[in-house]
Amino acid sequence: MDAGMMAEAGINVVRMAEFSWSTLEPQRGTVEFGWLDRAVSLMAEKGIDVVLGTPTAAPPGWLIAEHPDILRIDGDGRMFPFGHRRHYCPNNASYRQESRRIVAALAQWFGADERIGAWQIDNEFGERCFCPRCEAAFREWLEVRYGSLEQLNASWGTAFWSQSYRSWDHIPLPAAGDIPLPEGFMPASPSPGHALDYRRFASDSFVEYQQVPDLPITHNMRSFRFKELDFQKLARDLDFLAWDNYPLLNASEGWLEPALNCDAIRGLKDVPFWVMEQQVGPLGWETIRTPRRGQMRLHSYQMLAHGAEVVCYFRWRSARFGTEQHWYGVLDHDGRPNRRLRELGELAKELERIAGLLAGTVPAAQAAVVYDYDARFALEIQPTNPALAHVDTLRAHYGALRLQGIGVDVLEPTADLSPYRLVTAPSLYVVDEAVAAALRSYVEDGGLLVLGPRSAFKDRTNAVPEQPLPAWLDELAGLEVSDIASFLDGRTAQLEPVEGVGSADAAFDGWFEELTLKGARAVYRYRDHDFAGSPAIAINAVGAGRVVYIGGAATKETLAHLYAWLAREAGLDVFGAPEDVEVVRLRRPESGSELLFLLNYAHAERTISIPGGLASHLDGALETESLVLGPHGVALLEANGVSR
Ligand code: GAL
Repeated sequence: MDAGMMAEAGINVVRMAEFSWSTLEPQRGTVEFGWLDRAVSLMAEKGIDVVLGTPTAAPPGWLIAEHPDILRIDGDGRMFPFGHRRHYCPNNASYRQESRRIVAALAQWFGADERIGAWQIDNEFGERCFCPRCEAAFREWLEVRYGSLEQLNASWGTAFWSQSYRSWDHIPLPAAGDIPLPEGFMPASPSPGHALDYRRFASDSFVEYQQVPDLPITHNMRSFRFKELDFQKLARDLDFLAWDNYPLLNASEGWLEPALNCDAIRGLKDVPFWVMEQQVGPLGWETIRTPRRGQMRLHSYQMLAHGAEVVCYFRWRSARFGTEQHWYGVLDHDGRPNRRLRELGELAKELERIAGLLAGTVPAAQAAVVYDYDARFALEIQPTNPALAHVDTLRAHYGALRLQGIGVDVLEPTADLSPYRLVTAPSLYVVDEAVAAALRSYVEDGGLLVLGPRSAFKDRTNAVPEQPLPAWLDELAGLEVSDIASFLDGRTAQLEPVEGVGSADAAFDGWFEELTLKGARAVYRYRDHDFAGSPAIAINAVGAGRVVYIGGAATKETLAHLYAWLAREAGLDVFGAPEDVEVVRLRRPESGSELLFLLNYAHAERTISIPGGLASHLDGALETESLVLGPHGVALLEANGVSR
């Protein structure tokens, strides 16, 4: 009956079994896969493809009773108890063996089965573990990385506070000290080099854990904001990418956060990406938040506009038991057809109607944001100033571009940057020579590069290089950072434009740098503060390109002015719309023609001015030079070369 309802609503992919170990193997050695096989058959009969989840995110009680050391230990030394999920240590040898055993049994049963389209390994990897097995594995990891204790001691600078190691066995797991202590407390934070290696090791533990040969695999990643895992490394072994989207989980986030997520996932690797879990109804743990009418459709279109190949809704039926009774599925707890099912069915029909139009399109990006996981981990270990927070900074710069309707790819700094007219690296706190060389060649070939404050303060060992800042990038930027100012009391520094370059007043929040120019030209100067009169933002010509260095945590308004100017300088196609209307350009690579999505996130009507002569394939009333979109409306316009 459920499969019939799904098929009728146009659902053609279902993921299942991702937490079902205790049902698949109620006790050691007794495997009961028949129920799953029947469920897969019911789907197959209706032409629905199945993604099978391996059940390892929830080891069953009997396994924990046999091997209590599987339970992971948190940074305060507390054992995570049975009775939830994700309660395992990824470095526990027994757990790895048990994981291999259950996955091999499933693969033997379903591996060659045509009804199974793909496999999801585990579910939302992530937490760090501080158990004795992790400590031993960390030491091995360090030995492979450094080869000798001399090398490790030199890299971490262990002479500081008498921490030099004479035996691998003496190296502890660092304290979970990246949780800031109240002012005045003795810092529990470990040596930065030690802490960064542990963060890399903890992330690598999952990368290694997920390896499954010979199956088409993916993993449902949490949001890009999730700070424990290096998604760039995790993606290397995946055949396609997936992430989980709950746009209303943090009501204040708006449309930029899911947009950034999609663009960051898409930028990990040149393979399709899916949304493996998408909010479909009310959600919450103890409390509940409900979407407004039309938001389910709107949020689904957002994913498709950003290039998602598949959107799966979490979940089908609302759970009657367990912790997630408040996470509504498509169906309510009574399992009967309802409004959400009807709306999904309508959406599926609509998508069929526009499938031809969307076929072969890709999100069009003229700009790129680049970021680096070492930079992110290192800044989380020493946050420096809240105004410099890594993902918030990326989002602010990404947002300043996206609010002008400019498509943005989100990439590693060593990716091929040549297709982009503008590249921004707003939080490249860790840099090495390879990154510096890649950025230099991008600029020399004619690119426009933007660097943010505190760029290149650290090297890959999380040490501060003995060089002028931004290290390795000072000549490229044509300047040196000669002094810093950091305030944690919300203080700002006012800036003034230098004649003929900048166009409006601007300000930095909390973090300001004094710049000494060595060839660059000032774009803004400080108007107040100790640095009054000194350059605050500067531009440098290098080869056929230019570099802009922003010497502080720029406010949202400042970024809006700056990126409007940069978009003009780089010759980017902009498309203005009200702030709660997202503009996404799609391109057909063969013909170069474009389509334009306009997505209205406001709970009210919005008017967008557009060039005349366009056709809307979805919502919206077209006037001669404008389009009126209702609350949560979605317009799909043919936009061949639209540029304003
Ligand atoms: C995801 C998770 C799902 C479910 C969902 C809603 O993070 O993968 O299993 O828990 O959140 O709570």
